[in-house]
Amino acid sequence: MSGTKEEDRKGSSEWRNFFWNPRTHELLGRTASSWGLILLFYLIFYLFLAGMFVLTMYIMLLTLDDYKPTWQDRLATPGMMIRPKGNQLEISFSVSETESWDGFIHNLNHFLSPYNNSYQVQTNDNCSPDQYFIQEDSGEVRNNPKRSCQFNRTMLEECSGISDRFYGYSSGQPCILIKLNRVIGMLPGKDSQSPYVTCGAKRMDSDKIGPLAYYPPNGTFNLMYYPYYGKKAQVNYTQPLVAVKFLNASLNTDINVECKINSNTLAEGSERDKFAGRISFKLRINDK
Ligand SMILES: *[C@@H]1O[C@H](CO)[C@@H](O)[C@H](O)[C@H]1NC(C)=O
Ligand SMILES: *[C@@H]1O[C@H](CO)[C@@H](O)[C@H](O)[C@H]1NC(C)=O
Ligand SMILES: *[C@@H]1O[C@H](CO)[C@@H](O)[C@H](O)[C@H]1NC(C)=O
Ligand SMILES: *[C@@H]1O[C@H](CO)[C@@H](O)[C@H](O)[C@H]1NC(C)=O
Ligand SMILES: *[C@@H]1O[C@H](CO)[C@@H](O)[C@H](O)[C@H]1NC(C)=O
Repeated sequence: MSGTKEEDRKGSSEWRNFFWNPRTHELLGRTASSWGLILLFYLIFYLFLAGMFVLTMYIMLLTLDDYKPTWQDRLATPGMMIRPKGNQLEISFSVSETESWDGFIHNLNHFLSPYNNSYQVQTNDNCSPDQYFIQEDSGEVRNNPKRSCQFNRTMLEECSGISDRFYGYSSGQPCILIKLNRVIGMLPGKDSQSPYVTCGAKRMDSDKIGPLAYYPPNGTFNLMYYPYYGKKAQVNYTQPLVAVKFLNASLNTDINVECKINSNTLAEGSERDKFAGRISFKLRINDK
C-alpha cells in the first residue's frame, strides 16, 4: 500500500524533473541552447519553404498572360442564356396584372442600358457586318486595348424597349432576349454566314407557341462581334443579342420553348451536354 504511494511520489517528482530540471537546467529534457538550435533550425526551414513558394509562384505568374487564358477547355459549343431571368428559367405572368411582369421590365431595362445607341456610339466602332473583326497582336507587339463593334439597342426594334417600353408584356406578346456565352477566340461561322437562333416548342406544345419574330432580322449574331479577345483586351465589348417576340402564344397554358444556335462551325449540342448551344425555358402567359 505505502509502497505504491512512495512510487507515485517518485513518479511525479520525476515528471517535475523532466519538465524543469533545476540541476541540469533542462526544460523538457533539453538545455536552452539545444532548444535554441531547434528553433533556429525550424525558423530557417520554414523561411526556406516560404521562399520556395514565393519563387515558384513568381515564375508561374511570369508565364501567365494577362490577356489570354493559358489553358481553356476546347469548349465546342457555348451555352446560352435568356433575359429576363425568371425564376428557374420560367417566364410566367398575367397580362392584366402589371406587378406580375414589372420585374421583367426592370430587368430588361437594366440589362439593355449599355446598349443605348448613344452609349454604343461613344464606346464602340461601326464595323462592317458579316465578317470577323480581327485584331491580332503582331508577334510580341500587343494590339491592346482592342476595339469592339456597336450593338445598338434600336437593332432590337420591337424588343428594344424604346418603341414599346413594356417589351410586349402588357399586350401578351413578350420579348425574350438570348445571348451566347462568351468564349475567347471562338469563330462561330464561316463563309460570312453568321450563326442564328431558332426557337420552337418542345414536345406537345408546338400548336401553342404561335408565330415568332426575331430581331435583328433572321435572329443572327453577326460575325463582326467575333472573335472575342477577353475582358481585359476588349474592355468595351458588347455582347450581341437576339430578341424573340412571341406574337400569338396560347394563353393560360405552359409552353416549353427551346432555342438553339445554328452555325456552320459549331457542333450541335450533344445529348451529353444539353446546355451546349441551346436553352430551354417555360413560358406562361395568363390573361387575367
Ligand atoms: C439608356 O436609355 C434609357 C432610356 O431609353 C435610360 O433610361 C438609361 O438611363 C440609358 N442608359 C444609359 C447608360 O445611358
Ligand atoms: C448605332 O446608332 C447610331 C446613332 O443612332 C448610328 O450612327 C450608328 O451607325 C449605329 N450603329 C450601327 C452598327 O447600326
Ligand atoms: C471604351 O470606352 C471609352 C468611353 O466610355 C472610350 O474612351 C475608350 O476609348 C474605349 N476603349 C476602347 C478600347 O474601345
Ligand atoms: C435572312 O435570311 C434570308 C434567307 O435565309 C436572306 O435572304 C435574307 O437576306 C436574310 N436577311 C438578313 C437581314 O440577313
Ligand atoms: C392566334 O392564335 C389563335 C389560336 O391559338 C387563333 O385562333 C388566332 O386567329 C391567332 N391570331 C392571329 C392574329 O394570328
